[in-house]
Amino acid sequence: MTARKVTVATLSALKARSEKAVFVTAYDYPTATFADRAGVDMILVGDSAAMTMLGLPSTLQIGLDEMLVFIRAVTRAAQHAFVIGDLPFLSYQPSDETAIRSAGAFIAAGCDAVKCEGGARVAPRVRAMVDAGIAVMGHLGLTPQNLGQLGGYRVQGKSLAAAEQLLRDAESLERAGVFAILLEAVPAETAAFVRERVGDGVLVYGIGAGPHVDGQLVISHDMLGNFVGEIAPRFVKRYAEVGGVVEGAFRDYARDVRAGVFPGPEHCYQIDPADEALIRAARTTRTVRPASRATPVVEVRP
Ligand code: KIV
Repeated sequence: MTARKVTVATLSALKARSEKAVFVTAYDYPTATFADRAGVDMILVGDSAAMTMLGLPSTLQIGLDEMLVFIRAVTRAAQHAFVIGDLPFLSYQPSDETAIRSAGAFIAAGCDAVKCEGGARVAPRVRAMVDAGIAVMGHLGLTPQNLGQLGGYRVQGKSLAAAEQLLRDAESLERAGVFAILLEAVPAETAAFVRERVGDGVLVYGIGAGPHVDGQLVISHDMLGNFVGEIAPRFVKRYAEVGGVVEGAFRDYARDVRAGVFPGPEHCYQIDPADEALIRAARTTRTVRPASRATPVVEVRP
């Protein structure tokens, strides 16, 4: 079955029917294919690729060209899901032109939309991208590109004043024309407050933001159990232990190779027994006959 491609209109229709959108990150062709086949609605090619795929300490060290490699793999895979490319650090902050060029490169690589972090202070960049015809998702709450200012991976929006500040940022993004806002690591009540107060035209998704939002995002490495690192957010539910399965498979393979058990006869190419006998006999001779008389005889080292 080839399901129809998800669009912003599909996502709005889900919200209108009070159905939750299913949103995961993916960075490579196989994972995006499996997610797409499983029927997820949205795939984020997150700058979290820096940590999940490249083993870097934070998202600040990944650039546009590296993101484009991941984006091309995912957009090739996604037949159904709406694909969002995550604009990396300094690919949109410096100027409107930088933002439009970076977002344009993601759209040219097959993304349906882009995401950028921040509220009022990035609203002009959002407006510029939207005016260039690009669908933009905002990202508020814990914004890892501002890790230095936030002082670490901390829950945001924990007081009424902080929730009101989030709402003001959400309203700035709404005025700038975002189609959606992602809230990361905020209490469920704060997320509900923001979602209810921004206009109905803006979709509000959450990652670690509780259930009162229009859909849930999770980092695929976290839910699949193949993140190699220390960070383990409490909002993640583990659905598999892929890392353990992969490590176990490599251990079994190493054991079989070292024991001479792999490859077995079933993993070898079969040929005519007469040819096999000739080749076996040739293994003991010291020279190989040339293909033509012009070709010199080749010495074979024993
Ligand atoms: O890069 C990413 O995966 C993200 C999510 C954590 C929201 O931005």
